[in-house]
This record gives sequence, structure tokens and C-alpha cells, in this order.
Amino acid sequence: MAPLASAALILGSLASLVAGHGYLKSITVNGEDYLAWQVGQDDYVTPTPVRYARKLADNGPVPDFTSNNITCGAGGNIPAEGVIDLKAGDTVSLNWDQWGSSHSGPVFTYLAHCTNDDCKTFKGDSGDVWVKIEQLAYNPAGTPPWASDLLREQGAKWQVTIPPTLAPGEYLLRHEILGLHVAGVRMGAQFYPSCTQIRVTEGGSTALPAGIALPGAYDPDDAGILAELWRINQGQVTYTAPGGDVWSEAAPNANRDGP
Ligand SMILES: *[C@@H]1O[C@H](CO)[C@@H](O)[C@H](O)[C@H]1NC(C)=O
Repeated sequence: MAPLASAALILGSLASLVAGHGYLKSITVNGEDYLAWQVGQDDYVTPTPVRYARKLADNGPVPDFTSNNITCGAGGNIPAEGVIDLKAGDTVSLNWDQWGSSHSGPVFTYLAHCTNDDCKTFKGDSGDVWVKIEQLAYNPAGTPPWASDLLREQGAKWQVTIPPTLAPGEYLLRHEILGLHVAGVRMGAQFYPSCTQIRVTEGGSTALPAGIALPGAYDPDDAGILAELWRINQGQVTYTAPGGDVWSEAAPNANRDGP
């Protein structure tokens, strides 16, 4: 491609990176940094660089959270080249490029077992395969009360501990922020998921139970999705995040105690 054309493409894509939004930029495990898909850059690099989280189209929310784009983000759910080796019980740091102050909401992380321990052939877009292993939502006594605001104050980083008893194998680690700032309008909730590919090399003997289906489980009329932020903030309604309960074998939340 001519240098001018490629510069124009990069400029165009930077203009589409709306301020306040964000994406998972890297993953840190046991002192090693692993890059996720670099939004606005990796699309223009040939050959495709080795990344450890699946491609995202941009840094915005999933345009329709009832579609297949909700599974691993709106990047086509294309398996990445890299898989991160770790052990059950390890704590992973999920590092966002940035996180905007007005995008308050819950943060959660799910795991799905890749069929045949092969994430290169697994999409996770059908069946009850997603098991929530971590969640923080709204605690009126917390400083700050909302999980995503805590993420921002932690330098746009979030910690998740892999369940200590989890059986070895390959899994997708699906980390997600739900921005509720315009969730008072039906389909206004902003989901920002990402899928990191991990290989648990040592662990226990517990298989994941049945979980939820994505797409499927996020109902546009769920009170955790069609929600008015100001009512929650004023104590008029109690907030319950979507996606069900955290798995009983999950480790304590590594960021802060719930809710
Ligand atoms: C999925 O995301 C892509 C990229 O943003 C978009 O072009 C497409 O329309 C989305 N599909 C649905 C069903 O929303």
C-alpha cells in the first residue's frame, strides 16, 4: 500500500477512537506482559502480529448485544495466534488503554472451556459455556461505588484470579465492562467484552459447570441492562448485574470485596 493511503487509513481509524471509550490493551501474568489486539494499529500490520486476545473492531461498545458480536467483541471472533500459559490460582492483570469517567457500571469476567482444549477452533458463541468467575458492581459505601470507576482509579487495570481448583486445559477468559450511562434507553447499555486465550498448565480437577450463553443471556429488558444510573446512584433501586451468579469455586475478588 502507498504510504499516503496507509497514513490516511490510520488517521481515519484514530478519528473513530471516541474519547471515553476503551479496550483491553494487554494482559500481565507472573510479570510477563502479553499484548491484546491493538485497536487502530494491528489492522494495518502484515503479517498479523501474534496477539493473545481476539481482534476488536474498535474501542466502542458492541453495537448489538443480542448478536454474536457480544461473545468476544465486534472483531469477528477470530482466534488469536497466542495462548497465555498460567496456573490455576494465578492472578491476571487486565490492562485497558484507558477508561472514561462517565462510563459507570459493573465489571465481570467469565471463563469458557475451549472444546478439545483447542481455542484455535472454539468460538463460544453457542451453548451455556460461559461461567462467571469474578464480578463487582455497585456498593454505595465504596470509594468509588461503581466497579468501572474503581478500574479507572486503578490505572485502567483490573485483577482476576483464576479459580484455584480449575482443571488444566485451554480456556477463553472473557473480561467485560458494562457502561450504564445511557442504559435507561432500551439497547442503550454499552458492553465492552474481550476474549483472552489462556492455557491452565497446572490446577485442580474441577471442570467448569454449565454457565450462560452469549449471545442469549443478555436480555434487553433485564433490570441490570435496562437500568437508570441516576436512580441507582440515588438509592431508589438496588442494582443486580446481568449474567447470573459468580461460580462457587471462584477466588475472592482481587480488586475489592463485593457487591
Ligand atoms: C458486528 O460488528 C461489526 C463491526 O462493528 C458490525 O459491522 C456488524 O454490523 C455487527 N453485527 C451486528 C449484528 O450488530
